[in-house]
Amino acid sequence: MYQSKIAGMGYYVPKNIYSNDDLTRFMDTSDEWIQERTGIKERRFADRTEETTTTMAIEAAEIAISRAGVTAQDIDFIVFATLSPDYYFPGCGVLLQREMGMREIGALDVRNQCSGFIYALSVADQFIKTGTYKNILVVGSEKHSFAMDFQTRSRNVSVIFGDGAGAVVLQPTQDNHSGILSTHLHSDGADAEILAMYYPGAHANKWLKNKPSFPDQELGGLFLTSEQLESGAALPYMDGPAVFKKAIVKFPEVIREALASNNLSEKDIDLLIPHQANLRISQYVQKLLGLRDDQVFNNIQKYGNTTAASVPIALCEAWESGKIHTGDLVCLAAFGSGFTWASALIRW
Ligand code: ACO
Repeated sequence: MYQSKIAGMGYYVPKNIYSNDDLTRFMDTSDEWIQERTGIKERRFADRTEETTTTMAIEAAEIAISRAGVTAQDIDFIVFATLSPDYYFPGCGVLLQREMGMREIGALDVRNQCSGFIYALSVADQFIKTGTYKNILVVGSEKHSFAMDFQTRSRNVSVIFGDGAGAVVLQPTQDNHSGILSTHLHSDGADAEILAMYYPGAHANKWLKNKPSFPDQELGGLFLTSEQLESGAALPYMDGPAVFKKAIVKFPEVIREALASNNLSEKDIDLLIPHQANLRISQYVQKLLGLRDDQVFNNIQKYGNTTAASVPIALCEAWESGKIHTGDLVCLAAFGSGFTWASALIRW
């Protein structure tokens, strides 16, 4: 069995910066409300026509591949995590393969929202461990701005999210003391509808409490009707307080699980990189785990919540700013829609 190591990483955020004050041009909100509840000061939004989830992923991937000392031709598998794909299908993995001129390698799309990158990393880790692949590109990328509603009715959601991408290249290492020590994945679908986008979808309203009426026809027409579009049912829905309550339980739980399975404890963590859901969630988790400020990395203030991209963007930014050293114990953790939650422990 091999051990996997992160051989290179990169991130990309769009140039367009939208401050909290900028959002007040579209909806009834304020810098004070947003900063107090979420810690966010500004976020990046992709160019509406030039940039997509795939193009941002390519920007991040090119940096990661070059830092790993390989070329796009050397990549032998792609794992792409996103909830905002360019097309409903096919997924972004094949678009990235095509646009980067890669060989006819496997491209797997992961749909685990905020936990997507750690789920993707875990899948890649298994393929490296078994010796199946030698250079796996793992990507998290999101273009939330195209699907969010910037009217006051959706302000609890649209002030939180931003666009961006992060990528890593995983390679095998013979050194059993460094690299990915373990990954831990969980789910509980009991509350699947409280952080979700219901349409377009094939559920035919089966799980929804407030059901928009069905079109009067024998077949088809349920996937996305004009009535659903007009009623806002095709927009992301979030019960913020319920998400907060669950997140502050599952984040510490999955971090402690990773530590316990490696006979380590909170004091051994050199850097915790939590999914950037909300600065208040990160601060609460830090307090529950008894971690110092220098043991936790946050950058949501600048980028908002970039869902599957937030962990690789934060990991790369922390590394670029000299916060990760050889031998450090780095813990990645995420919680999000599903609910799903996950962690990865890495010896750098
Ligand atoms: N600007 C101004 N007022 C707002 C805004 C806004 N952007 N959004 C909501 N409000 C108002 C509401 O209308 C409501 O007004 P009312 O009392 O007159 O009805 C009031 O603020 C409180 O609304 P709540 O939704 O109860 O706001 P809350 O204080 O819970 O804060 C928030 C909302 C920030 C989303 C909070 O619930 C939270 O942090 N939840 C965690 C969820 C989260 O962070 N999700 C991130 C994505 S999921 C993930 O990554 C895990």
